[in-house]
Amino acid sequence: MSETEPEIRKGLVGVVADVSAVSKVMPETNSLTYRGYAVQDLAENCSFEEVAYLLWNGELPDADQLKAFRAEEAGERAITPALHGVIRAFPQDAHPMDAIRTAVSFLGLEDPETADVSEAATRRKAMRLLAKIPTAIAAAHRASKGLAPVEPDPKLTFAENFFHVVLGKVPAPEVVKAFDVSLILYAEHGFNASTFTARTITSTGADLHGAVTGGIAALKGPLHGGANEAVMHMLAEIGEPSKAVAWLEGKFDHKALVMGFGHRVYKNGDSRVPTMTKYAEKMAEVVGDRRWMEMSRLLAAEMLTKKKIHPNLDFPAGPAYHLMGFDIPLFTPIFVASRITGWAAHVIEQQADNRLIRPLSHYTGAAQRSMPAR
Ligand code: SDX
Repeated sequence: MSETEPEIRKGLVGVVADVSAVSKVMPETNSLTYRGYAVQDLAENCSFEEVAYLLWNGELPDADQLKAFRAEEAGERAITPALHGVIRAFPQDAHPMDAIRTAVSFLGLEDPETADVSEAATRRKAMRLLAKIPTAIAAAHRASKGLAPVEPDPKLTFAENFFHVVLGKVPAPEVVKAFDVSLILYAEHGFNASTFTARTITSTGADLHGAVTGGIAALKGPLHGGANEAVMHMLAEIGEPSKAVAWLEGKFDHKALVMGFGHRVYKNGDSRVPTMTKYAEKMAEVVGDRRWMEMSRLLAAEMLTKKKIHPNLDFPAGPAYHLMGFDIPLFTPIFVASRITGWAAHVIEQQADNRLIRPLSHYTGAAQRSMPAR
């Protein structure tokens, strides 16, 4: 490596870009903690609201704090007639990720404190986004199907209300629990691409709505959050367990990516997969349809044997959401509804100790030359 040929870490592989006290990803032990608590313990024992509180405040809430947090979130769920109008104007075939990206951007136009980047204002805006994102996701999804929006119900938990606004009904408690678990597992994950995008936007002094809008744009891609939808499309294409291994061999022949597998940080297994798989299996039992989980089991075994590549969280989340009754295009927006908690925690952290994120590039274009005569 000479002065003119600096070391390039393509994709910033292995680069430690800053400190963070929000979560710790430990690939050596396949583990992940939020504010010090193992994610699987949080998923089994807490509600999503408790985990949101934890991410934003550093500690789990006591009963009064949780009650107040729930009441504040439930009270902010409604979206304005103006946003409903914008949503109705979206093209019928708009992708729900594009719809929620645009809706969040519009929420920034409406928010009374958009440009206020103080910590107190950012926290209030984060709560409003947490509460309103499901309403906007649901309204856009229902509009695309020609259905009227469903008013959010402040008496329901965050997870129950999500089903209510999207599907118009709240399913059995074990289905709500599986969904709540998925929200907890998706909430936060260090400097992943969308969070780093949000932090980069924040580092310029821009506001939370801008950071979240950028985070949503980054999350849509199939190498990131878009993989949970791609997984279900893949399972649907395979169709039945008996075809899974042959289908995979065909992918190996073309060196194609298999969605829901691999991870930049975890090389020996994603810490969140066992918990999500357990709840996806429960969904298969509840629905009485083992096909998708059986196919998943065969694909995961074959990927491990032949490629030594483990599944990531999107692999069990895809079939779990399908079994819960959600349409495939909603899967990545669900990720948004959860990850807003992690994004906001990182935005607050970035604001508290900010320095503009501005790396360098190594120029490889044409050598300096004279302008042609004119
Ligand atoms: C998420 O960062 C986060 O934390 C993200 C996330 C979060 O919570 O925010 O965990 C959520 O985004 C999960 C990832 C979802 N994406 C996918 O499932 C898409 C499929 N997976 C990949 O394309 C890939 O594994 C990535 C993008 C996830 C990671 O890419 P890397 O770190 O750049 O790894 P790589 O592409 O360099 O892969 C190393 C090798 C390559 O083979 P060689 O060139 O060395 O021979 O592994 C192979 C890859 O081809 N490989 C795969 C594969 N993933 C890696 N081969 C087939 N199928 C795959 N899925």
